[in-house]
This record gives sequence, C-alpha cells and structure tokens, in this order.
Amino acid sequence: MSYDVSHIRRDFPILGESVNNRPLVYFDSGATAQKPLAVINRMDELMRRYNANIHRGVHHLSGVMTDMYEQARESVRRFIGAEHREEVIFTAGATASINLVAQAWSAKFLREGDNIVVSEMEHHSNIVPWQLAAERHGAELRVLPFDDRGDLRLDMLDELIDERTRLVAVTEASNTLGTCPVLDAIIAKAHSVGAVAMVDGCQGVVHGGGRVAERGYDFYAFSGHKLYGPTGIGVLYGRRELLEAMPPYMGGGDMVDKVTFAKTTYAPLPLKYEAGTSNFIGAVALAEAIAYVEGVGMANIEAHEQKILRMMTERLGAIEGLRIYGTSAQKCPIVSFTVDGTHPYDVGMILDKLGVAIRTGHHCAEPVMTHYGVTGMCRASIGMYNTHDEVEVLAKGVERAVRMLK
Ligand code: ALA
Repeated sequence: MSYDVSHIRRDFPILGESVNNRPLVYFDSGATAQKPLAVINRMDELMRRYNANIHRGVHHLSGVMTDMYEQARESVRRFIGAEHREEVIFTAGATASINLVAQAWSAKFLREGDNIVVSEMEHHSNIVPWQLAAERHGAELRVLPFDDRGDLRLDMLDELIDERTRLVAVTEASNTLGTCPVLDAIIAKAHSVGAVAMVDGCQGVVHGGGRVAERGYDFYAFSGHKLYGPTGIGVLYGRRELLEAMPPYMGGGDMVDKVTFAKTTYAPLPLKYEAGTSNFIGAVALAEAIAYVEGVGMANIEAHEQKILRMMTERLGAIEGLRIYGTSAQKCPIVSFTVDGTHPYDVGMILDKLGVAIRTGHHCAEPVMTHYGVTGMCRASIGMYNTHDEVEVLAKGVERAVRMLK
C-alpha cells in the first residue's frame, strides 16, 4: 500500500505552524510526538461531554467514563500483546512505571548481595531508579556495555548475568543511538538464571515494539506522548504473578479493598497500582492514538520512517566533519550526530532560527556521551509525518550552521 505522507500531515495541525517565519520542520518526535486531530478532538469531546471521575460514582457520566477507561485498558492490552487486562497499569508515564517496579518489585525480590544489570545505552529513567533500588537493598549494579557501532555486547552476557542477578533492565530502542537491541538473547539469559527483564519501550513502542507476552518481557514501560497520545499518561505492563506478589506502591483511593485504622486490604489488579484519580482523559485519548496509528498501519509507518532514516543517514553522513553515533543494523529512526568544530547547542540554535526542531544535549543518556567522549550531541528523530524535503531542509541548515560556526 502506498503511504501518502501529505495526507498524514493534514491530520497534524501543528505541522502547519511557522517558527521564526519558516515552516516548522519537526525532528523531535523522540522527545514527544505531535498529536493528530483524532486525539485532539477526542480530548476536547471527553472534557466537554463526558468528564466524571471513574470507579466512584453511580451516576451516568461516571459509568460512561469508567467504561471508556476500561476499554482503553483493553486497547492497550491488545496493542502491546499482553495476555490479561490485569497486567496493564495506567501510570503518569514511563518514568513512573519504571519507578513503580524499582520500588515495589525490589521491596519483595531484591536482597543484599544480589545484582541488577542495566545496559550502557539506557535512558536515565532506566538507570537511576535501579541505582536507588540497589543502594536501598545493598545490591550491585552491573553494566552491559555497547560497542562503538552502538550494539550491545551480547558476548558479555555470561560474564555479567549470574545466579545472583535478579533483574535485567534494557531498552527496546535507544533514544540516542537508535539501536534496537537483540532482546531475545538478553531475556533468555536473564530467565535462565531466574532473573526478570524490565524493558523500556519508550522509543520502541512506536517502532515495532510490544508483543510483550510473545517476547517474554516481564515488565514493559512506555509513555503515551511518544505514541502520538497525550502527556501525563503511561503504561506499565507486568506479568500477573509478579504484580500479584509485589506489595502496593502508592497508597490512596481506588487501590484499596477495605480500610480501617487497624488494617487495610488492597484492591485486586490492576487497581492495586492505580492509587488516586487516574488520568482517565489521558488513557482514553491514548486509546484514540492507538486507533489512529493502527488505522494508518504500524508496518506502513515503519516502512516510511525507515526510508526517511536511510535518506537522513546518507545526506547528513555526507557532510564533512559530521559524525553519526549509532550505526547498528537494527535502528529506529533516530540520528544523533556532532560536527567537528561546532557545539551541538549552537547547531541546534541555528536550526531553530530556520524553523527546524531537533534535540541537543545529553538526551538523558549521559553514559552514552561518556562512551564516545562527548558532552552532547544533536539528535534528529523521525515521526510518521516527516518527509524527504524536510531532510533536505535539515541538512542544508546543518551545512549553514557549520559555515557560520567554523
Ligand atoms: N526521553 C525523551 C527523549 O529522548 C524526552 O528526548
């Protein structure tokens, strides 16, 4: 099926905006994706016509919103390939999801002398919660390195993962290098010693990720806003037996069964982990975003983005002094780079003047910067709406920045 990107672009009103009197060229979808009208209109409708708190009221609107919220859970379950609805927990975002596991799972399963393995290419949100957990419980944090192409050193799995390994935390797609690691080998190794796998799906979920049950993920986290949905909503998938064995995380309304001053009992899954008023508008709008991308077709989106990735890699790669970080054969559409004699921040500022949005800095992945001995990079991340012409605007902008800065 042919992919009509101009048709897709009409679904995203922000793409018609100008920045600094230039048409917006948005290459920062890895930070947050733009929103299609379907999601914007759905949120508007939910707030205008259906707003009411869930799981609480006998009144009509509360019932309608509760049903929509639970249907959204079902959409997510199906989309990520989980077996049971109880395994899908709505959170505020991927960071909240990972912190939930780092607190509640660690309280139950992590002991002094155990170890946790994280990869060197993780986002800070899949490093720091594990560092904190390791410190709390007297466990060791081990690091699975990557090579200069940006591929994880699978040859080191046997050395790093042993009978005291309790959890392996790894990304489905690096937000900086774009690498989609070979997770099968890592998960199989973790499972062979009885450890669990926490997979960060922030970048992966929108680029062929998920299928959590089939791939044997034990925990999976992602944020709605990178999947063309709203901010402030995310998902934690957890295998049912694990979530059942873990203690509650946050206490509050909705997560309880019976409360007395002497003793409180807790609600069954998934509500056990959804204390307080959930972001029900966000959850239902996330389901709308899922319906939107599924309507376009995940495979169609991926094929288009990979085409733009190849063009961008070739075009930027031809610029003298430009170095691309992350050249794995399996990449999601992210291109991080530096240009000799320039600072990423300056390149980003000049591109901004030309209406081009990229991310600059350490991308919340400082160990990746350390690996290559740099303090920051430019990053162009591609979404379903980017075009060949936009790659050209970006590349010309980089060339101009280099002329001005050198
Ligand atoms: N984690 C997001 C990024 O990679 C914000 O830009």
